[in-house]
Amino acid sequence: MVYLDENATATPLPAAAAAAAEWLRRAANASSPHAAGRAARGAVERARRQVAGSLGVEARHVTFCASATEALHAAVLGALRPGEHVVASALEHAALWGALEQARRLLGVEVTRVAVSARGEVDPEAFARALRPNTRLCALMAAQSELGVVYPTRAVAERVAPVPLLCDASQAWGKVPLRLPSTGARLAVVSGHKAGAPLGAAALWCAPDAPPLAPLLLGGAQERGRRAGTELTPPIVGLGVAAEALGERLAAMGAVRALRDALEARLASRGALLAVGAGVDLDAGGAPRVPGEGWAWGAHARLPNTLMLRSLAVEGDLLLQALDLAGFCVSSGSACASGALEPSAALLALGCAPPEARRGLRVSLGPTTPAEGVWRFADALEGLLSAGV
Ligand SMILES: Cc1ncc(COP(=O)(O)O)c(C=O)c1O
Repeated sequence: MVYLDENATATPLPAAAAAAAEWLRRAANASSPHAAGRAARGAVERARRQVAGSLGVEARHVTFCASATEALHAAVLGALRPGEHVVASALEHAALWGALEQARRLLGVEVTRVAVSARGEVDPEAFARALRPNTRLCALMAAQSELGVVYPTRAVAERVAPVPLLCDASQAWGKVPLRLPSTGARLAVVSGHKAGAPLGAAALWCAPDAPPLAPLLLGGAQERGRRAGTELTPPIVGLGVAAEALGERLAAMGAVRALRDALEARLASRGALLAVGAGVDLDAGGAPRVPGEGWAWGAHARLPNTLMLRSLAVEGDLLLQALDLAGFCVSSGSACASGALEPSAALLALGCAPPEARRGLRVSLGPTTPAEGVWRFADALEGLLSAGV
């Protein structure tokens, strides 16, 4: 099997998985005052420092949650009051749209969706134009999961201030250098399983000047009363280990980018696709741009590991099934309850008609993706496309 779906869930770092497994074997509740509990408390707080360190923030401003979906709900439902207004980019993840839908149902919150260009870009002025006197939150993700576009969050945050920006940084963390304060956001979310940690832990960051959040989950006083429920010590410890290793992961992203670029060039040069990565290669000179040192989250860029193929000659779900049978795990659109595939939400937001939005395929690589597997995938894809599947 060749796994090319790292944006769905990244291959866990062995050390992170091992650290989590160690705590899975222990009876330890991090809120218990006895020795076993104190050991778990120590492990959770160490992980908090590791995560905070990797994000350039203070540990006391980090709240652990079970997933980015939960953290986004906590931020949205915690920040908003009845009758308020939110502005969000059209390319936000379903998890954010779900939280906004809950806010609409429970609080009567209104939402304005800011359209993106056909290349997936956002215009900070469009956010500013959408503001109303009762706007209390704006949302723009750091990097788009399907297209790989890295967003100018700082420019948007500056344009909408003093309204706080909520930044879903789930896809950026571990792929591009990320210091949360420099994104301009005052609320941000990262998800462990997107960055080499085991499933089950995510982090919500609230800047010191973020709006106070009413807790989403009530019960025990865990997480300083911000998130009730026994601390998820095993995945939290894994999250800390993955955060500590983030420097190595980022260093490996140069090679990941070279492999992604080579795959893109090969598929483009063979003419197997009508448009490879169209709408996402945002550098006018043709070279993919990745934020690095000194990059201020002020311009569009591109994740190093993601390739969105579109305008394929074959429907994405047929292609996906055929590739799956051949041993390749890639992604297309979003799975709905029946298991059938919906058109890609990202391609729809770019203005593609539904039939075209069903013809997308996302390939996402990671530091452990074998080059040989990528070339076998390219052979298989080209073969399927020329055979019409
Ligand atoms: C950008 C983005 N936000 C949020 C999520 C949801 O993350 P989780 O699986 O941790 O709930 C995902 C996962 O697909 C994502 O890509």
